[in-house]
Amino acid sequence: MAMNQMSRPPFASPAEWEDAYRQGTPPWDVGVPHSELIRVLDEGHFRSGTVLELGCGSGADAVYLARRRFEVTAVDCSPIALERARLRAEQQDALLRFVLEDVFEFARSAGQFDIVYDAGFYHFIRLLNLQKYLDMLWRVTRPGSYFFCLAGATDNAAEEGPPRVSSDEIHNELGRLFEVLQARRTRIESTSRSNGYSGWSCLMRRPIAAAK
Ligand SMILES: C[S@@+](CC[C@H](N)C(=O)[O-])C[C@H]1O[C@@H](n2cnc3c(N)ncnc32)[C@H](O)[C@@H]1O
Repeated sequence: MAMNQMSRPPFASPAEWEDAYRQGTPPWDVGVPHSELIRVLDEGHFRSGTVLELGCGSGADAVYLARRRFEVTAVDCSPIALERARLRAEQQDALLRFVLEDVFEFARSAGQFDIVYDAGFYHFIRLLNLQKYLDMLWRVTRPGSYFFCLAGATDNAAEEGPPRVSSDEIHNELGRLFEVLQARRTRIESTSRSNGYSGWSCLMRRPIAAAK
């Protein structure tokens, strides 16, 4: 059954995420930066600043961002994933900050970031507690902050793969906080399928209040 048809996602607790990494390489953990992240950076939407990655997993994107000279804080609740991420950073001579913590706890005192990045967390957490997720995003951004998100897309309901979100859901949910600058159809890389899965690449920005 496709994940978006389930009432409870298969990964709903830190122990379940940890189990996925303990069992080997989960399907989302492709070990190289997402091509959409590279595209957005190459297009120059943002060139420097502080980045918070929510649910960084084994760190391929976080390390890539650090090597492109962003000041990166990467948070994940899985000790195994973060151990792999730290090793990756060491092997690639990347300097960044990894935090082993629940992102919601972390966000209470983390302050605001120029860019918040989420590859594959939103489409799970929205099924459990969307409001908590939005409150957290509000805390870690300020007017002018960017939010960049990769999420599964509703294409083929029978298809296996990550949970899926529609364009309307993205606009109705994330659009409460952010102006949608780009919502592009893309493929999300996966270890379990050579051409990946249908997804969204969403670039958003928290509005800057107009001067009076
Ligand atoms: C689908 S995976 C994506 C990982 C990574 N972004 C990637 O693309 O490879 C979601 C990640 O979020 C982490 N995660 C889930 N809930 C979390 C929470 N409450 N706090 C911190 N990390 C969490 C999981 O451990 C997992 O690594």
